[in-house]
Amino acid sequence: MSSKPIIIAPSVFACDFSRIGEEITRIEKAGADWFHVDIMDGHFVDNFTMGPAVTEAIYKVATVPLDVHLMIERPDHFFPRFQPFVRNVTFHVEAPCDTKATARAIRDSGCTAGLAISPPTPFEKVEPFLDQIDLLLVMTVNPGFGGQAFIPETMEKVKAAKKIREQQGLDFHIEVDGGIRPDTARVATEAGANVLVAGTAIFQSQDPVKEIAELRGRE
Ligand code: DX5
Ligand code: ZN
Repeated sequence: MSSKPIIIAPSVFACDFSRIGEEITRIEKAGADWFHVDIMDGHFVDNFTMGPAVTEAIYKVATVPLDVHLMIERPDHFFPRFQPFVRNVTFHVEAPCDTKATARAIRDSGCTAGLAISPPTPFEKVEPFLDQIDLLLVMTVNPGFGGQAFIPETMEKVKAAKKIREQQGLDFHIEVDGGIRPDTARVATEAGANVLVAGTAIFQSQDPVKEIAELRGRE
């Protein structure tokens, strides 16, 4: 288990968008620590979600921090449009931009910087940047869609990141995203993850208070 506290970050992507404000309030009351905001541009992934205007709307309703996950081709160009509304900006190591410069620009803007890695990408791609980020997002499904099954092999990356964090005295969060439910949350936290993103499991639950407690491993 990681020594860092568990942070539950419900993914707004799974909410009822016809009632987004009420959905945010409902799930925040149920115990959300952050909200995870998935941004897709139809290029980097084969889907669309929301942009800065909807992110601002979430920011106005939520009282917990926003964690934006940019699944877009040009995170270096677009992150400033989201930056005023969020605490953390995560972009993908697979995106065609300068990883080091983008992480630095995000930090210079006053946000924390997260770096995401998709399941097919080898861990070595993120290794050179671990001392320059505040959060490593290990994708546990292929990005683009909610409701997919957790890929257990991704836990090797969580374990490798935890080991390097200890060896090098670093302090970044390890976040997992995709197919997270109480059973897979346990697998992920045992491997070393401390930020749990869950969309379907929380927003579609009949009892989100219980679901969040179970994700934390408290029930
Ligand atoms: C996938 C997104 C996830 C997704 C998680 O590309 O990054 O945040 O919404 O959804 P669930 O929890 O339903 O797998
Ligand atoms: Zn996400």
